[in-house]
Amino acid sequence: MHLAVIILAAGEGKRMRSSHPKVVHKICGQPLLRYVFTEAKKLKPERTIVVVGHQAGKVISVLDSDVIAVVQEEQRGTADAVKVTESELQDFQGTVMVTCGDAPLIRRETLDKLLKLHKEVKAAATLLSAHLSDPTGYGRVIRKSDGMVEKIVEEKDATAKEKRVSEINSGIYCFEKNELFAAIKEINCQNMQKEFYLTDVIEILNKSQKRIAVSVAGDSKEIAGVNSRKELAEAQDAMRKRINERIMENGATLIDPNAIFIGPEVRIGQDTVIEPFTFLEGSTKIGKDCHLGPFVHLIDMTVGQRARMEHVVAEGSVVEDDVNLGPFCRIRPGAKIGKKAKIGSYVELKKSEVGEGSKVPHLSYIGDTVIGKDVNVGAGTITCNYDGIRKHRTIIEDGAFIGSDTMLVAPVRIGKNATIGAGSTINEDVPDESLALERTDQKVIKDWSKKRRGNKKGK
Ligand code: UD1
Ligand code: CA
Repeated sequence: MHLAVIILAAGEGKRMRSSHPKVVHKICGQPLLRYVFTEAKKLKPERTIVVVGHQAGKVISVLDSDVIAVVQEEQRGTADAVKVTESELQDFQGTVMVTCGDAPLIRRETLDKLLKLHKEVKAAATLLSAHLSDPTGYGRVIRKSDGMVEKIVEEKDATAKEKRVSEINSGIYCFEKNELFAAIKEINCQNMQKEFYLTDVIEILNKSQKRIAVSVAGDSKEIAGVNSRKELAEAQDAMRKRINERIMENGATLIDPNAIFIGPEVRIGQDTVIEPFTFLEGSTKIGKDCHLGPFVHLIDMTVGQRARMEHVVAEGSVVEDDVNLGPFCRIRPGAKIGKKAKIGSYVELKKSEVGEGSKVPHLSYIGDTVIGKDVNVGAGTITCNYDGIRKHRTIIEDGAFIGSDTMLVAPVRIGKNATIGAGSTINEDVPDESLALERTDQKVIKDWSKKRRGNKKGK
């Protein structure tokens, strides 16, 4: 079977009232267009063409680099948008599926069903329709008395009787390529919006006795188009539910799924428990038996098994098995936290490795650092990695003990099993097994407090 997919995404999306093109607006952390693109790709079409126009660069940037983008210079309607792909499809023969970049909830199964019906009945065109209790805004599917489809009428052009029809056009269709482009040439823009409507193809094909089929969507929510901020929020809600249900089906516990936000590409292992106010985004992967939340925000993170996190913000880093993070820590990109390590409260970590079993439990900044195994970093330790011009590295070898309130002025190396006395500013390497201490001797003035009190009358 020969299949090409066209995704229409050239429109501005005026009803969004936005300076960004509509299809790059996100739900569950991913642009609308990317959802459609991903589902369409699952059909393994020979080509996937995206029609862009308004702010084309921004739209293309949310897609993979191998996408075929065709520019529709002026947005003159959905039929015109399809027309601009004709030269790209010149050497293609077969079925063309047209979808809209603003309908992110569509699922592969529904597209498959549409395609299958189209092939089975050898139709010239097959449209995907749905029955909506409130069809306002959509094109209506007008059927003849024998039940066959006659045409699609846009809301703005519909008569009062036509507006009462609850079967709507999803904006997703399969066409035989030659029939499609032949019919498009006959379309004019004599309608309320002065646009070239792709929907007119149906009536044109009908008049020349071509076969038109309709696949009715089982779940009408899937075809929802996003045209306004309100619809964006509704789509986000539906997508979040769908994602969370899949996550639960795969064996993770979500404590109040209404308050947990997981992106479409996130993967979560069995028996992991997620508490409310947790956001998991991007390519995040979580292992089994973890406990995340409340208030955990992870972006592009890889987390092993049995990790525990609470009040954590972490991005672009790797966390191995049995790690404990938080409450209140921030992991910036490029960190790797080894097995059984602990990063505690008010700790910031950046581009640093923390070895197996090491602990940074309180109030630290660790940047551009490699920490070995079983190291203890005392409260208030700071790696001074930036001299105002360049960043420098700190190395802390296995078994070292860093006393509280230590400044490690990089570049610097703390040897194996070395100890740093509390309150030291360390700017020279410390050899293995030694103690380094950098602080002035303590002065004690006996009875100082007592004398001071004695000087103040009445006390
Ligand atoms: C369209 C259908 C309507 C259907 C609805 C489903 C037409 C005429 N109407 O209406 O029957 O019920 O979708 O959601 O097709 N686009 C371009 N170039 C253009 C115009 C639009 O690429 O010149 C793109 C838009 O970016 C969008 C898609 O086509 O992704 C649909 O356009 P939109 O204006 O949202 O159409 P609707 O009014 O929703
Ligand atoms: Ca739309």
